[in-house]
Amino acid sequence: MSTVAGIRFKVTPTKSPVPAAERERRLASPGFGRAFTDHMISIKWEVERGWYDAELRPYGPLSLDPGTVFLHYAQGIFEGLKAYRQPDGGVAVFRPDANAARFRRSSRRMALPELPEETFIEAIDLLLQHDHAWVPSAPDHSLYLRPFMFASDVGLGVHLGGEVTFLLIASPSGSYFKSGVKPVTVWLEEKYTRAAPGGTGEAKAGGNYAGGLIAQAQAAREGCDDVVWLDAAEHKWIEEMGGMNLCLISNKGGRPTLVTSPLTGTLLPGVTRDSLLKLAGDLGYGAEERRVSVSEWRDGCADGSIAEAFACGTAAVITPIGEVRSAHGGWKISGGAAGPISMKLREALVSIQRGTAPDPHHWMRKLQL
Ligand code: COI
Repeated sequence: MSTVAGIRFKVTPTKSPVPAAERERRLASPGFGRAFTDHMISIKWEVERGWYDAELRPYGPLSLDPGTVFLHYAQGIFEGLKAYRQPDGGVAVFRPDANAARFRRSSRRMALPELPEETFIEAIDLLLQHDHAWVPSAPDHSLYLRPFMFASDVGLGVHLGGEVTFLLIASPSGSYFKSGVKPVTVWLEEKYTRAAPGGTGEAKAGGNYAGGLIAQAQAAREGCDDVVWLDAAEHKWIEEMGGMNLCLISNKGGRPTLVTSPLTGTLLPGVTRDSLLKLAGDLGYGAEERRVSVSEWRDGCADGSIAEAFACGTAAVITPIGEVRSAHGGWKISGGAAGPISMKLREALVSIQRGTAPDPHHWMRKLQL
């Protein structure tokens, strides 16, 4: 038993961990979200009992009744954050408190119970205590942590889940896009919308991603790596991408300025997005949260006032955008190459995460192994 913040975790380690040589083979070229560590955490919740049956146990399949609410009505949420190998061989997690807080906000929107933030963080600590050997040390690799939770009671009436399951799994990962950090090409989605005011856009709910896959498929047919979503009302303002936020670097007034959509309620409040707004200031750049229209983006790239664009998120880190395509033509950004300001911001962020630069905002949670 391991006791944390009032909740006791039963610890049942696997009897057959992946052998070290095989683990190293999987860590060498992990891709994104394909391999998983030896263990997972599960916690149950019921209306009458609250949170109970917290356990670290071997990673493995779940057994679910076919009438489980989540399988029908998608009442579920998730998070994504990363653990990084540190220069001294230790392990540190980037801003788990920010993800824990967003997990609670997503719960509220999806009518799920709120997992206490300290339990969210303790679950991560416990999993890493057992699976820290799975944290890669290669420069662009990390251990992606995926907490998620779903309505696990049974019944086909559309109703509030009375029983919920929280799980935490971990997956060694490299770059999210196949091209690595090379600039990606994006598709401006002008027909479908990801989220509308009052909807679930700012919650990290799986359904938001499912509803976007049709546009993702169109983007792939157009030779693009991802989608850019526009606002639902006017199809005019750029909001975010398929699974990450979108930032521009403007040069108006001669000072590089990070520009990204304000949190209108329809886009995800990204932890990386928030961190970059702070880091931009640290590096002496401007930082603006304001709406940018498609025509401002296109015209700005033509006259040089918008010099760079990139995708940012836990999985994507910072991935430059080199080209935009749409049903009405397209344009290149930074001549299709990675922009220098984007790469400086990337370097500043990654250096904090990897422990090679000071951490002035106290973002890293060092693990006691
Ligand atoms: C993340 O960056 O953690 C995300 O959630 C993106 C994901 C949908 C792959």
